[in-house]
Amino acid sequence: MAFTFFFRDNHTLEQLVKHLLPTVQGRSNIKIWDAGCAMGPEPYTLAILLAEKMGKFAFKNVRIDASDIDGSDLFGKIIGEGAYSGEELGRIPKEIFEKYFSPVEGNGERYRICEPLRQRVLFRRHDLLTLEPFDQGYSLVLCKNVLLHFAPNQRADVIRMFHRVLVPGGLLALEQTQKLPEEVRHLFRQVIGDAQIFSKEEP
Ligand SMILES: C[S@@+](CC[C@H](N)C(=O)[O-])C[C@H]1O[C@@H](n2cnc3c(N)ncnc32)[C@H](O)[C@@H]1O
Repeated sequence: MAFTFFFRDNHTLEQLVKHLLPTVQGRSNIKIWDAGCAMGPEPYTLAILLAEKMGKFAFKNVRIDASDIDGSDLFGKIIGEGAYSGEELGRIPKEIFEKYFSPVEGNGERYRICEPLRQRVLFRRHDLLTLEPFDQGYSLVLCKNVLLHFAPNQRADVIRMFHRVLVPGGLLALEQTQKLPEEVRHLFRQVIGDAQIFSKEEP
């Protein structure tokens, strides 16, 4: 259930960053929620893409809340350490890998993502089905490969919660195969045709 990997669906993440950046330019507090983040490859991929495009000073204004129900009770530790095996990091482009990762001392098989990126990603244990968000004012909510595990009415309820916590015009991203349920379609406008990226509308 917690299947994930670095640079998964890179197209959607690249498009997200492209559409997000003009909406947050000049802001000193940019909040992002990665809901159902698993062990961290997705929020760290997003952090890498943002750091690449924003530059290190503007990137310091970003906070990625990475949440998961985490049945294993391990994700917080894994994400906090930000260390992964060489095998897990195999899909990362070489120049990005060399720029943001370094070997863990005494364990040549593992590599840790650099501290400026680790500082921007905070893990929170959270069950989406409580429908009680832990914060609001998000410029972006990313929820990929999670809603498919829920019943149709639960999906709609969770998406209504995402709508509530987004700033006006904030972005929601789902996986390629996840369409917005009919009953919440009026809450969002699809931003581009070839990715499930939506901006918040006021109904
Ligand atoms: C397939 S992984 C997706 C990871 C990442 N978003 C990606 O697309 O690569 C699905 C994640 O959803 C989490 N999840 C399942 N039910 C959840 C719930 N009710 N609340 C929060 N997270 C949940 C699982 O623990 C798992 O880590």
